[in-house]
Amino acid sequence: MAAHLVLLPAFPAMAAPSSAAAVSPQRDGAEMRIGTALLRVTALTDQIVRIRIARDGRFPEDASWAVPAAMRKASVAVHPTEDGFTTAQIRVRLADGRLTVEDLSGKVISQDTIDPLTLHGTGFTLRKQLPISEHIFALGDKTGADLDRRGQTYVDWNTDVAFSSTRDPIYKSIPFFIAAGGPGGSYGLLLDNTFRAAFDFGHVDADSTIISAPDGPIDYYLIAGPSTAEVVRRYTDLTGRAPLPPLWALGYQQSRYSYMSADEVRQIAARLRAEKVPTDAMWLDIDYQDRNRPFTVNTKTFPDLAGLTGELKRDGINLIAITDLHIARAANQGYAPYDSGMAGKHFVRNPDGSTFVGPVWPGPAVFPDFTDKGARDWWGTLYKGFTADGIAGFWNDMNEPAVFETPTKTMPLDTVHHIASDDFAPRDATHAEIHNVFGMQNTRATYDGLRKLRPDERAFVMTRATYAGGQRYAVTWTGDNSSTWDHLRLSVHQLINLGLSGFSWAGADVGGFTGGPSADLLTRWFEIGAFTPIFRDHSAQGAPRAEPWVDGPDHLAIRRRFVEERYRLMPYFYALADLNARSGDPLMRPTFYDYPGLLTARGCDQSMAFTVGRSLLVAPPPKMESPQSYDVCLPAGGWFDLWSGKRVTGHPSPDQRDGDALLLTETPRLDSLPVYVRAGTILPRQPLVQSLAETPKGPLELHIYPGDNCSGNLYLDDGHSLGFTRGAFLRQTIRCTRDSRGLHILFDKREGSFKPWWQRVAIIVHDWHGSAKVTQAGKSVDATPDATAETLGFEIADPARVSEVTVVAS
Ligand code: NOJ
Repeated sequence: MAAHLVLLPAFPAMAAPSSAAAVSPQRDGAEMRIGTALLRVTALTDQIVRIRIARDGRFPEDASWAVPAAMRKASVAVHPTEDGFTTAQIRVRLADGRLTVEDLSGKVISQDTIDPLTLHGTGFTLRKQLPISEHIFALGDKTGADLDRRGQTYVDWNTDVAFSSTRDPIYKSIPFFIAAGGPGGSYGLLLDNTFRAAFDFGHVDADSTIISAPDGPIDYYLIAGPSTAEVVRRYTDLTGRAPLPPLWALGYQQSRYSYMSADEVRQIAARLRAEKVPTDAMWLDIDYQDRNRPFTVNTKTFPDLAGLTGELKRDGINLIAITDLHIARAANQGYAPYDSGMAGKHFVRNPDGSTFVGPVWPGPAVFPDFTDKGARDWWGTLYKGFTADGIAGFWNDMNEPAVFETPTKTMPLDTVHHIASDDFAPRDATHAEIHNVFGMQNTRATYDGLRKLRPDERAFVMTRATYAGGQRYAVTWTGDNSSTWDHLRLSVHQLINLGLSGFSWAGADVGGFTGGPSADLLTRWFEIGAFTPIFRDHSAQGAPRAEPWVDGPDHLAIRRRFVEERYRLMPYFYALADLNARSGDPLMRPTFYDYPGLLTARGCDQSMAFTVGRSLLVAPPPKMESPQSYDVCLPAGGWFDLWSGKRVTGHPSPDQRDGDALLLTETPRLDSLPVYVRAGTILPRQPLVQSLAETPKGPLELHIYPGDNCSGNLYLDDGHSLGFTRGAFLRQTIRCTRDSRGLHILFDKREGSFKPWWQRVAIIVHDWHGSAKVTQAGKSVDATPDATAETLGFEIADPARVSEVTVVAS
């Protein structure tokens, strides 16, 4: 077979292509020489391999912004084979200079093309086969017509741009994709290279995935599944998980660019309360500042920030403030962030050593050198005043970084950053290398600073720009979207793909940032937004107002109903938050995450469908503007309608590829959103509150939707501190089984020491017809059937201990 390293003339140091040399076994992998290059595959775990290629035989330094050192240093012993090695889960072959990863039965997970590597100047191109059955996901919130990225090309270059569904690049660079549907199951690939990398998923060549970068290390990780869920969990093992956010971050959040004064903030807060729209946060955009200078306050319009914060907090509303990274170049004006930053030499420099200055909101501005730990530590101290004022969370915007008045929208590529961080050797680096991690390191500085200032509080940071692994420090949103139906559709795809990229905490501006939504669009956006991880209404300066009441009482009533549903489902959302923090499973998922058969379902249009956890399937109309009915694909096993609580029956799909899925025909109605509950779910709900800081009044509800593998989870803690890391939490699994004696509800052992707000638990069994005898520990419990709702309801004392309730038809 011919050689497989193609060298372009721009890389004259290397000899002409030569055939691959023998594989040399290593304790934890294998190495192979290709010409003067050296390829090393290291098994970090039984399912994750790291591939590094040293172009001249010497590997570049082993350091990373995405993958923490402890994970990079992990390895497992492998079994050498003639052409590679096996781990307990996969086989790696290096025959003929091509890397092939297979499962142990020989099914191909990932395979190089026959010309897998080209070196060009300082750059490189890698090529992998793209089998016909493969679909491509993740890569952050990059745009596209569909959820699937197959057929598209993408560039990683964080860019401040009001985007459309065809625009690329936009704000984030997460060089991680998942290929699902191939013969060996799903796999993930993280290219750990911060330069302007590009991905081509079958665009130039229908059968190839082509990955390239103009510079930087050839260093990537292949993560085997076989399921997509396993890939995502392992990707978050590798790059870290999003920490558990404060509970209030799961509530409804109200924002606008900008609420111009403390009085306006008070009025909006009062109206939210008067209209009974449950709310947990309000956002201060740039106009609360003095002349747009970060870490200042306009004391004419916001005379007493601490007073405002305290007042809102007493009303159950947390205030979040924007703190952009561009520090005004305001020498000798008593502007401490500039003076102290200059004194500490904390700003990014020009090649001649002077401080780089670029215009942004405050006018001429300087930019902290976030790749230097010293600069990060200094930045963290800037939050002292705002944390003392009681600001609950912070917004890091414009951190691509955006620079005005230049066609590149950012700083010149030869601007100089200093790296002094982690296990990097201290050195200077150009902006070309640092650009894509700049926003991520900005949020790291903020997050670490907040953790120091409030050591026992969860830090809440939201960012626009980031890189792989940035989920360790910040939640994100999709930036400046527009008030169009196309953008609402796009936001669903963006949020799903962010969840698959480790960013399980993400939102899109509800209503759209620019343009002003029609009444129907804003209502639909509230309905869908209520099921997305971060639920924040935000709109641009000058755009029509987009608060929930703007289109009159009928629209407000629908919007309120969906916000209320979000609040009632909070125990379910919070249990998913706990699961996410421990496993990496996103809250908002593609339907094939838990139901792999749906990856290829054809009989229904799933383009807007998603799941929230495993149990809720949300199916907005694929064509939201059209009254045309549509078929929803419901995986085998049975489903209930969330709103009526009743079992739904679908019809079989005419398309064989849909497997056991049933189709359900829905007709769009503006005042409703189809949401289904998997049969076999125990769904926790709570009484309605206006703020998550309120103690709910009444019992916790457990809705039982009988079916196979019936279970549900409870998770609770104080909602804001790190007490949960020291045992101050409550976690409990509840299961149900059915046998000839009836339905058994089993409360497993409760973990943790946290005492819940409820004393009693109301149990509602769905799909129940007729009366019943309910017993717990030999004692009978009063139960009430409801023939119309087809339920059986009863109450028990808080099941803090292992216990069982039996329900028998009578
Ligand atoms: C750009 C952000 O994307 C937007 O959400 C914000 O309102 C403006 N900057 C002003 O801060």
